[in-house]
Amino acid sequence: MELLGTVTIFLLVCISCLLVATWSRSQKGKMPPGPTAFPILGSVLQLNPWNIPESLKELSKKYGPVFTIHLGSEKVVVLYGYDVVKEALIDQADNFSGRGSLPLLKKLLQGTGILTSNGETWKQIRRFTLTTLRDFGMGKKSIEERIQEEARFLVERIRNTKERPFNPGNYLVHAVSNIICSVIFGDRFDYEDKKFLTLIDLLEENNNLQNSKSTQLYNFFPTVMDYLPGSHQKLIENTETVNSFVLEIIAEHQKTLDPTCPRDFIDAFLYKVEQEKGNAHSEFTTETLSRTTIDLFLAGTGTTSTTLRYGITILQKYPEIVEKVQKEIDSVIGRDRSPSVADRSQMPYTDAVVHEIQRFIDFLPINVPHAVTKDIKFRGYFIPKDTMIFPMLHPILHDNKEFPNPEKFDPGHFLNADGTFKRSDYFMPFSAGKRICAGEGLARMEIFIFLTAILQNFTLKSAVDCKDIDISPVTTTLANIPRPYEVSFLPR
Ligand code: HEM
Ligand SMILES: *[C@@H]1O[C@H](CO)[C@@H](O)[C@H](O)[C@H]1NC(C)=O
Ligand SMILES: *[C@@H]1O[C@H](CO)[C@@H](O)[C@H](O)[C@H]1NC(C)=O
Repeated sequence: MELLGTVTIFLLVCISCLLVATWSRSQKGKMPPGPTAFPILGSVLQLNPWNIPESLKELSKKYGPVFTIHLGSEKVVVLYGYDVVKEALIDQADNFSGRGSLPLLKKLLQGTGILTSNGETWKQIRRFTLTTLRDFGMGKKSIEERIQEEARFLVERIRNTKERPFNPGNYLVHAVSNIICSVIFGDRFDYEDKKFLTLIDLLEENNNLQNSKSTQLYNFFPTVMDYLPGSHQKLIENTETVNSFVLEIIAEHQKTLDPTCPRDFIDAFLYKVEQEKGNAHSEFTTETLSRTTIDLFLAGTGTTSTTLRYGITILQKYPEIVEKVQKEIDSVIGRDRSPSVADRSQMPYTDAVVHEIQRFIDFLPINVPHAVTKDIKFRGYFIPKDTMIFPMLHPILHDNKEFPNPEKFDPGHFLNADGTFKRSDYFMPFSAGKRICAGEGLARMEIFIFLTAILQNFTLKSAVDCKDIDISPVTTTLANIPRPYEVSFLPR
């Protein structure tokens, strides 16, 4: 009897606790609606893990521009459309400035650099990174000059392929990666350098591993996947190798540091570590240095090189667009000097083509996940602190009012009737607000200079009939990537 009594009391206490919890929850308000979640599985039944952006598009038709999904046991609020994303990332910039990491990103990057960090660490490291990248832009050799020099190496290398069809992916990765290497490590690498090639191979392998099924499942079931073999384990191991490579370079820098003359990003950071030695709470440590360096290296390589690789396959499909770009190159730059950023303002057609490439490929359709930094109210809903947010870029870049016929590649999306450049607030491939891509300026310079340098010197010849080139993307967890292809570069 006594036992039954105790059990009854226990149950009553439990129920009242539940009621109180539900009540206080409803006082704060309801989270945005969404599909039914199942224990452990979350919304996996309504979300195709191999094409999340497509599933989210379907859900937005049913639930509107703000809805909640479950990744495993984690709640994610999806923002679908220009108005809600602007309202969140710009009008409530601070509230939405947190980084919510997908389990895999969290595992790989550990949250102490710039890309996946939060709070005070993120604020200080981001401010430092932006200023330092700017300073090196004004240094002895400007970032623009570095890109022009690299473009000449790239063009020479392409010339040596002697019109043979090949996949230019690796050449583009090497060139793009060299720009970020030169900023953070102080110098570019020779294309044959063993260390450099090992590093790039690891990155390439990681890119491929990210497309594997086991890696994509990791984001849904991290705790289970931690115990299972598969390509996600190789990915984790490779990232450690990249980490030790960077640590080695940092150690070399430490030995030869001259505080009066920083050679690169690492030197500038080491000097800051030195300055803050007395401060026990400093965010500037060798640990955050190596993480930030890796973040810049990873964020700055795959994004830009894939955009170029994708751009080249699109241009192969439209020889008439290439012809118009080349006409503009010939009249503004000519054949005897390297393209520079200053040329861009006189090249509205080329500028439109570059914008259209970034819009069309929609490289990060769901953006990089954010998080809210406190309990907030948004459009009448309650969103608790630290909830992960997907401020989707796809519905903005493919908005059919702003860009009529958005699935078609058409530079006209960025041209006025009189042929001048038409800017658009919907051009958001780098996101918006406080977390906006820290390398936007660098990336846009690279894409413009590399593409114009290539088209200044070569015409693209596709290995298959133009009509048969499939420019639709392969969608991985986070990125849209081009289908494999080969191209020949014919000297002009
Ligand atoms: C075509 C090339 C690129 C694209 C499309 C791109 C796009 C993006 C996007 C969408 C984000 C997430 C923004 C957000 O959370 O709201 C991001 C973040 C970031 N990107 Fe880029 N990016 C590119 C190139 C680069 C380059 C060259 C660098 C090198 C410096 C870079 C460094 C970063 C960093 C450090 C972040 C994290 C910023 C933060 O969390 O505060 N990106 N990028
Ligand atoms: C392209 O070729 C011209 C000569 O036709 C050369 O002067 C120019 O520098 C080349 N561009 C690059 C980036 O090498
Ligand atoms: C941030 O969220 C709080 C709580 O909902 C709200 O009072 C505040 O206005 C928001 N900040 C901005 C800039 O909207």
